Amino acid sequence: MSGRQGDAREPSEAEIWNELGRLDPYWAVLARSRVRLGGWLPRLTSFYTTGVEDVAACMTLTPDADFSQILDYGSGTGRLSFALAPHAELVSCVDLSVTMQDRLRDEATVRQVTNLRFLSPQDPPVPGHTWAISLLTLQHLPGHDGVRDALRYIRDSLVPGGFGVIEVPTATRSVLARVNVTFHPQWRLYRAARRMRIPAPWLIRHGIHGIYFHVLSASALTQLMGELGLTVTARSEGETKHYSFVRYGFVRSTTASP
Ligand SMILES: C[S@@+](CC[C@H](N)C(=O)[O-])C[C@H]1O[C@@H](n2cnc3c(N)ncnc32)[C@H](O)[C@@H]1O
Repeated sequence: MSGRQGDAREPSEAEIWNELGRLDPYWAVLARSRVRLGGWLPRLTSFYTTGVEDVAACMTLTPDADFSQILDYGSGTGRLSFALAPHAELVSCVDLSVTMQDRLRDEATVRQVTNLRFLSPQDPPVPGHTWAISLLTLQHLPGHDGVRDALRYIRDSLVPGGFGVIEVPTATRSVLARVNVTFHPQWRLYRAARRMRIPAPWLIRHGIHGIYFHVLSASALTQLMGELGLTVTARSEGETKHYSFVRYGFVRSTTASP
């Protein structure tokens, strides 16, 4: 774990998300002002209600889909998974972070939700899903290759003709956001500090979380989806204070793609 004192190597993405899953999982999933370091805890009903709203909006983008076997890619603390569970026979929760998955598992026990399954993106995809969703995740995967790997995983998890929805930020709307996606100051500072043996909990407590963030142009993303045999069937646009984002409804081609 990157929180180990005396360990001066570069932290991996999994280690960064494991620290966040351990120390500040809800903020790491939904970074709003004034909810750092446990600020979501007294408002978890609101936190999970945002998932219900997002899932409803995403389902309308793919009205012809079969929602019986769902893949939630980058499931975090289950903000979407718990909203999806009543619609599905099975929801597969895929996350790089085992501590996020532990949090999700504990919450599922409390809620007595039994139709969740936990998968790692580092294992081969399990085929047979009829619908997939990935929100607030692709923007955190460093580089084009990370996004390609995730989309390929999602594609290979889906049955041919299966639908899905992904969301990506496509443009910045503030100077702060432009600095963030151009220079990645958080990501660089966190790594430099870890190399200097500054413990991860100290960094997170002081607002240095190490989360990578990039925007993906709509043209680059749709080209990549096309190369992978994912055909865009619908799109919707939205905005936050700092970013514009697009949600793409898509269908997996019935013919093989690389
Ligand atoms: C900002 S959270 C979003 C969680 C959830 N999708 C939601 O909307 O509530 C991003 C999640 O992606 C996970 N993650 C990061 N890299 C990943 C990867 N390569 N594959 C799968 N999950 C990843 C993180 O551990 C984290 O739980």
